[in-house]
Amino acid sequence: METVTTIAAARDRLDRARADGATVGLVPTMGYLHEGHASLIERAAAEHPFVAVTVFVNPLQFGPTEDLDAYPRDLAADQQLIERCGGTLVIAPSVEEMYPRPILTTVTVAEVSARLEGASRPTHFAGVATVVAKLFNLAGPCHAYFGEKDWQQVAVIRRMAQDLNFPVTVVACPIVREPDGLARSSRNVYLTEPERAAAPVLHRALEAGIAAIERGERDPAAIHRLMADLVGAEPHAALDYAEVVDAATLTPVDPLAGELRLLVAARFGRARLIDNVGVEVASGS
Ligand code: PAJ
Repeated sequence: METVTTIAAARDRLDRARADGATVGLVPTMGYLHEGHASLIERAAAEHPFVAVTVFVNPLQFGPTEDLDAYPRDLAADQQLIERCGGTLVIAPSVEEMYPRPILTTVTVAEVSARLEGASRPTHFAGVATVVAKLFNLAGPCHAYFGEKDWQQVAVIRRMAQDLNFPVTVVACPIVREPDGLARSSRNVYLTEPERAAAPVLHRALEAGIAAIERGERDPAAIHRLMADLVGAEPHAALDYAEVVDAATLTPVDPLAGELRLLVAARFGRARLIDNVGVEVASGS
């Protein structure tokens, strides 16, 4: 396994791999890798002989009050995990390499970015779409692996790839959780012990929402109230949103029907955590 830090070197390795007949799996990350990231790398390695993992904490997607400087970093541990999972190439550019001068060109994906995470973090998805566009451009033709943990992010990136004709197939992978249901996240390291004990309330609220829909509830406001009340009853949690929306467009559905996604976000002390689950309501049921 090799680590490169420049765009030119990354491009060279990927072009050579394709010239040798390999297909390429790409796994974009911000590092401080855990078993959630590992599942993406392992899946990419099962499907492609050449797997490039990018490790770059992207300043563009952090808001002015967010945790950019405090964001955890450990490249040596990341390299070990990537090697164990079957990665071929680590691409770890500096901020200067990715943004040598103030960026004047950005990518925004309207509508899909507007609600939920986009409402709470207005510049976030433009930052994500812009850096992922740069990574797709340096990577070239590939399959790119993303986690459903960031459901709206996958929708934004998929739409961007289609709208702008990137030669990239976006692959979404299931959420990896702790045994108590908490979704794995680099931000879980911010949790104090009582906050960590409280955090699985997000997954419990989502499960309660699903159970209500499976019992026949079709009113999105009732599902919102149920999930918001459960999170609200947890003193360590400050709810941001708890919604059920169309899984593909992330727009409201009333009455509930079709492929749905339940999404929640809440702050636990310093950590803002998100989670989601899917459910399908068959037509006429
Ligand atoms: P990061 O938060 O490091 O996540 C990298 C990838 O790992 C994302 O696709 C994310 O959804 C996935 N992931 C994180 N936790 C997961 C879990 N518990 N189960 C499954 N997948 C999980 O997301 C980003 O970085 C950035 O926004 C990025 C796309 C790299 C652009 O900067």
